[in-house]
Amino acid sequence: MFLFCVISVSPAWFSASESHDSELQALNSELSQWTDSPDPKRPPHTYRDGSTIDWLYEENLERQRKNRLRSQRGAKGILLPTLDTMKMWFVIVATGIGVGVTGASLDVLVKWLGDLREGRCSYGFFYNQVACCSGLDPGEICTEWRTWSEWFSVHSILGQSLLQSFVYMALAVVFAGSAAILVQTYAPYAFHTGIPEIKAILGGYVLDAFLSPWTLLIKGVGLALSVASGLSLGKEGPLVHVACCMAYNLSGFFPQFRHNEAQKRKLLAAAAAAGVSVAFGSPLGGVLFGLEELETFANETEVIWRGFVTSVIAAVSLQYVDPFGTSKLVLFQVTSGSDTWRAFELVPWLFLGVIGGILGSLLIKLNVAAAVYRRNSIMHEWPVLEVIGVSAITAAISYLVVFLRVQSSELVANLFQECDASKGDYHGLCNPVAMWRNVFLLTLTATVKIGLTAWTFGMMVPAGIFLPTIAIGASLGRAVGLLTQGMYRAHPTSWIFSSCPPDPTVRCISPGFYAVIGASAMLGGVTRMTISLVVILFELTGALSHVLPIMISVMVSKWVGDAFGEGGIYTAWIAMRRYPWLPSVEYKDQGEVAAQVMRPVDELVVIENRKCTLKELDALLKAHEFHGFPVVQEGQLLGYAIRDRLRAFLSMLSTGAATEQSEQICSFLPIRSEDPGSADLSPVLEKAVLQLRKEVPQELVVNMFQKLSLRHVLFTQSGKLTGMMTKSDVVSFLNAHFPHAAALAVPPGQSPWP
Ligand SMILES: *[C@@H]1O[C@H](CO)[C@@H](O)[C@H](O)[C@H]1NC(C)=O
Repeated sequence: MFLFCVISVSPAWFSASESHDSELQALNSELSQWTDSPDPKRPPHTYRDGSTIDWLYEENLERQRKNRLRSQRGAKGILLPTLDTMKMWFVIVATGIGVGVTGASLDVLVKWLGDLREGRCSYGFFYNQVACCSGLDPGEICTEWRTWSEWFSVHSILGQSLLQSFVYMALAVVFAGSAAILVQTYAPYAFHTGIPEIKAILGGYVLDAFLSPWTLLIKGVGLALSVASGLSLGKEGPLVHVACCMAYNLSGFFPQFRHNEAQKRKLLAAAAAAGVSVAFGSPLGGVLFGLEELETFANETEVIWRGFVTSVIAAVSLQYVDPFGTSKLVLFQVTSGSDTWRAFELVPWLFLGVIGGILGSLLIKLNVAAAVYRRNSIMHEWPVLEVIGVSAITAAISYLVVFLRVQSSELVANLFQECDASKGDYHGLCNPVAMWRNVFLLTLTATVKIGLTAWTFGMMVPAGIFLPTIAIGASLGRAVGLLTQGMYRAHPTSWIFSSCPPDPTVRCISPGFYAVIGASAMLGGVTRMTISLVVILFELTGALSHVLPIMISVMVSKWVGDAFGEGGIYTAWIAMRRYPWLPSVEYKDQGEVAAQVMRPVDELVVIENRKCTLKELDALLKAHEFHGFPVVQEGQLLGYAIRDRLRAFLSMLSTGAATEQSEQICSFLPIRSEDPGSADLSPVLEKAVLQLRKEVPQELVVNMFQKLSLRHVLFTQSGKLTGMMTKSDVVSFLNAHFPHAAALAVPPGQSPWP
C-alpha cells in the first residue's frame, strides 16, 4: 500500500532534506518498520474513545501474527493457521445466525406489541392478530381477535371509540416512554439508527461503548418498543447496529480479534451486511449496502466474501424461523397485474423520481434543522419528556387518519398490493368511486409522515429512517398511480393510452407498482444510495421484472436530490456529529494547496529534543489531548511521537525508579549509556513519517489520506517542520460546506445526551 504513493506521487513534492534523513532513507526505514518484527521495547498501541486507529500498524501486527503461526514447526505449522481461520468463520457464522434469529424475534415482538394497541386474542394474550386468526378460510370472519371495546363489552358507539382511542394513545406513550427511559438509563448510544456511527467506526473511529452488550440489549428491546409505539420510525437501519454489536461481542472471545482493531472492523463490516440482509430479507442487498454505503469492502475481496457468507446465513436463519408464517423472504410482495409496462407510464414515473428527489432533500433539511433546534433548546435537557410528548402527538394525529393509524409495515405491504377481488379492499383503497378521497388521504399521510419523521429521527429512541421513507414514497406513488388509472378510466380511447386495451375494466395500470416506484424514488432522495437500493427494493418486493423502472426512478431522484445538496441523510449526521470519517468521494481542489489547510508550525504543540525533562513531558501529555506530537531539534524534524506510546513508556520508566528520574532530560536520539542525565526515548519515536512540502495541491493530500488510510501528514522544507495536517483537519475541510457541520459534536468519550 505504501508503495503506491511512492510511485504515484511525483518526487518533487517530497521534501528535499539535505541536512537530515533523506526521503529515500525515510521511506526505506518506513517500509522496514512495517515488515521487521516490532521492537520489543516499543509499547503496544491502545486507543481511547474518540481516536482513530492506525490501519498500517494493525495490519502489520496481523501479518506478523500470521507469519508466526505459519512458521511453527511440524503439524503445528499447519494446524494453528487452520484453527485461526476456523475461529474467524465461527464468528461469522454465529453472527449470521444470531442476527437472523434476533431479526425474526424482533418482528414477532413488534407485531404483537403493535396489535396490542387495538385489541387482544381471546384465547391467549401472547398471540398477535395474524396468529390469533390463523387457520380461517378466506372470507371467514375472525371472532377470536377482540378489540378492547369488545373485550370489555362496551356497547355504546361513543364509549367504544373513546376506549379504543384511549388505549391506542396510552400504549403508544407507554411504549415510547419506556424505550426512552431504557436508552437514557442504560445505553445512551442506543438511540437513532446507528448507521452514521457504524460508517465512522468501520473507517477507523474508536467508540467502544457504542458496541457494548448493554447497547445491544437496549437497542433490541427499545427498538421493538419504539416501533410498536407507532412513532414514525422503522427498525431496518438499527438492525445494522444490532448486528455489529453482536459481531463485536463474539469477536471479543478470540484474542486475534480482541487485540487487533483492524481485524475487528473487518468482522463488523460483514455483520453490517447481515443486518441489512435480515432487515429487508435481502441478502444480496446487504452485501451491496456494505459495498456502496459503508464503503468498507473497497479493494477487499476477502471482506466481501465474508459479508456474503454472513448475509446468506442470516437470511437463511430468518427464513427458518419464519416470523410471519409466509415461508417467504420477500416482505412486501408486489402482485402487479402484468409483467409489461407501457411507454407512457414513464411520465408519471419520472415525475415520481423528481418528487422523490425534492422531498428527500427536504426531509434531510428538515431533519437537520430539527436536530439543531433540539440541541439548542430546553428539549435537549429533557429527552424522555420530548419522546413522550411526540409519541402522544403522533398517536393523536395518527388515530384520525386511517392510513396513519396502522403500522407502517402493514400500510406499505397493502400499498404495494394490487387490487384483487379475492383479497378484499384495504380501507377502501380499491374503490374506484373513492379515488379523490384516496388521493387526498394518501397525500395527507405522506405530508404528515414527512413532518413527523423529520422530527422523530434523532430523538432518544432507537429509530431507523428506511421504513418511514418507504411509507411516504409508497403513499405518494400510489396516489399518482390512482390518478393515472383514473385518467385512463375516464379517457380509455385517448391516444396516450393507445397501448392499453380500450376496455377500461381490463387492468392496464398497476397503482401498486407505482407505490414501489414512489418508495424507491423517495429512498433515493433521502439516502442517495443507488445500486444497493435498487437491489434491496427488488428483493424486498420480488418485482424483478420491473428493475428498469426502479433504476430510472432512483437515477432521477438522485440527480434531482444532488442538485439541492450532495450527500444523504447519514452523511449529514456524520458531519453534524463531526466523526472523523473520510468520504471516498473524489475531491477536486480549485487551486488550493496544502499550506492553506495545514496547521502551521507555530500553532502546533511540538516536543523539542533535549529541551525538556521527563516531568515536563508528563505535564505536556496531561495538558494536551492530541494523538501525537512532532519531535524537532532546532526546527529540524526528528520524527513523530504517539501520545499513548509516550505515556506507556513514561509509566514503564517511573514504576521502578525514584523521583530523580523525573528530572532527566528526554532524548529522542540514541544516547550513550554512560549519560545518566538523559532518558532514552528513542524507541518511542516514529522516525519515518510521511513528509510532504506545503506547496502540494490539496487534492493530492486528500487523495493520500483516502487511499492510504493515513492519520497525519507532516510538512517540511529542507528538513525543517513547517506544518501538519491530521485526518480530522481533512474531514472538517471536506465537511465545511455542510450548513450545520459539527453542530451536534460532543467531546470524545462523552455521551451524546446530557
Ligand atoms: C460480551 O458479552 C458478555 C456478556 O454480556 C460480556 O461479559 C462481555 O464483556 C462482552 N464482550 C465484549 C467484547 O464486549
